[in-house]
Amino acid sequence: MSETQVKTEIKAYGIKVLLAAHPEVRRLKRQHTPTWHGNKFWTSSWLIMDFLRGEGMPSGTRVLDAGCGWGLTGIWCARAFDAEVTGADIDEEVFPYLDLHAAVNKVEVATMETDFDGIRTAALKKFDLIVGADICFWDEMVDPLKRLIKRALNANVRMVIIADPGRAPFEQLAGYFINNGEGKWTAEALDRKVDKPRRIRGRLLVIRKRG
Ligand SMILES: C[S@@+](CC[C@H](N)C(=O)[O-])C[C@H]1O[C@@H](n2cnc3c(N)ncnc32)[C@H](O)[C@@H]1O
Repeated sequence: MSETQVKTEIKAYGIKVLLAAHPEVRRLKRQHTPTWHGNKFWTSSWLIMDFLRGEGMPSGTRVLDAGCGWGLTGIWCARAFDAEVTGADIDEEVFPYLDLHAAVNKVEVATMETDFDGIRTAALKKFDLIVGADICFWDEMVDPLKRLIKRALNANVRMVIIADPGRAPFEQLAGYFINNGEGKWTAEALDRKVDKPRRIRGRLLVIRKRG
């Protein structure tokens, strides 16, 4: 690449992420403006991919990517494990970016426009795993996420993974689940790092339903 060439995409963990300078992303940016920080792909997603690569999942696992934004975590689950993925987000403006990345990575991902409280028990019964990268960054996100995760565990979702650089609201959420399992779930907050596509450090809250 010559010095004047601008990088337009990155590849890691077997998926392609288009960057802001990519012509297709530039085209979408002229038409769609996400509001709640869904304007780009957030890097905590790599921590979830790295963790799940070690954990594995059966083909056809039903995955909900909550606060999906551009949807790369879910797209990776579909690509790596042939998972059946739905991306849920409060902001419909993120979905064209998700659709673009699903197409570029040759997978299909369903979408649901809803806030966390709108994902009800009946819908949650259709998922085995919930992932969420960088979705607990404001204090007011803690309670809706707490409610969502508790509904999910009651609906028999087996595992929930939330990734974050380690902000205070995330730690509050993690503390709640670590201290209140009461035989219904186990929860741990893990320090994780990856070196590709670049060095990223952060925290994962991993909650597993018991029984
Ligand atoms: C920082 S971005 C992270 C996006 C994506 N998970 C990633 O890692 O690239 C936060 C996302 O959460 C969504 N979001 C914010 N509040 C939400 C809520 N109450 N319910 C559902 N989604 C929400 C935003 O629209 C945005 O797409």
